[in-house]
Amino acid sequence: MPALFQPLKIGPIELENRIIIAPMCQYSAEDGNAGDWHMIHLGHLALSGAALLIIEATSVLEDGRITPGDLGLYSDANEAALAKVIAAIRANSPIKLGMQLAHAGRKASSRAPWDGGQQIPLGAPGSWQAVAPSALPHAPGEDAPTALDAAGLARVREGFAHAARRAARLGIEAIELHSAHGYLLHQFLSPIANQRTDEYGGSLDNRMRFPLEVFDAVRAAFPAERPVWVRVSATDWVEGGWDLDSSVAFAQALKARGCAAIHVSTGGVSPLQKIALEPGYQVPHAKRIKAEVGLPTIAVGLITEPEQAEAILAAGDADAVGLARAMLYDPRWPWHAAATLGAKVHAPRQYWRSQPREYKELFEGAKIGAR
Ligand SMILES: Cc1cc2nc3c(=O)[nH]c(=O)nc-3n(C[C@H](O)[C@H](O)[C@H](O)COP(=O)(O)O)c2cc1C
Repeated sequence: MPALFQPLKIGPIELENRIIIAPMCQYSAEDGNAGDWHMIHLGHLALSGAALLIIEATSVLEDGRITPGDLGLYSDANEAALAKVIAAIRANSPIKLGMQLAHAGRKASSRAPWDGGQQIPLGAPGSWQAVAPSALPHAPGEDAPTALDAAGLARVREGFAHAARRAARLGIEAIELHSAHGYLLHQFLSPIANQRTDEYGGSLDNRMRFPLEVFDAVRAAFPAERPVWVRVSATDWVEGGWDLDSSVAFAQALKARGCAAIHVSTGGVSPLQKIALEPGYQVPHAKRIKAEVGLPTIAVGLITEPEQAEAILAAGDADAVGLARAMLYDPRWPWHAAATLGAKVHAPRQYWRSQPREYKELFEGAKIGAR
């Protein structure tokens, strides 16, 4: 059986293959509430045959949204709106559901990408005051965030824990903490965004303190038989920024606290980043973290071809692959990968008749009867 279609245990849960749909913001919620778009978008991805669908960055507090359209899990209405979408998925697909819990920190109060993605200036309609480790804007000329004080830190920690409890009630099987891409938890880790002089800034241990506290709070709030893991940016791609050595140390500290896996991305904290993009460009980061930390490791970033994904897993560079854009471009990617690599995949019974003649064993359990 190809490595891509072998089952994988992440903490207490088992994935039926190694294909994970990476979280993707949709900027299409209202007041944080999922709506028809989420039903269509998550619904169709749920039919893809991937083992796990990680729901987009979901804000734990209203002011933690990147844009006014971000999905949230900070209110009863948010929870009720998501419950509908999840019920529809459960009724029609065996896919497991993860959710990425997030806080945007200083990247909050932004426009959606299709509206330019820039900061909404304070005072403009739809804007709000962002919070962050330090009062340093993401880019020169932007409004500065407010540095979090002790009460603010407690509010964020509790926001993450409350959202984790809501996610548990919704039946979400795994939580991914968003500590990547320049959002709040990554801002604490990176010396570029964190210039605090208290116990949350300065040394590596101090910069890791708040993200680790949030991890502990979420881990304690989420049922023990369901995993919590973390998405990291393994490097800022900026001299003097957060780097791979620090990421290994962070992953080791997380492992000691019961983190179930590491999802390895990069970048996002500084507009000065210089990224050399190529297929699988973040895999070497995943490989080193996996080798040194030993947690189940998810590689992501320009993994687009089944043979490429198979090679990454067969080489032992990662334990699973995360796919984002490739899944939007081809939502049946896992079907096509199974066909290419000679494996079986789950497809809804309503679609079994689409199985191509040359792949007679493609769909798990397919029965095509007629009279
Ligand atoms: C539309 C879109 C939305 C995204 N939203 C998120 C997000 O909510 N959280 C996150 O960690 N990464 C997000 N990302 C990054 C992806 O999860 C992924 O790491 C990145 O796109 C690289 O993988 P790919 O080459 O397979 O697309 C997003 C990417 C896209 C294309």
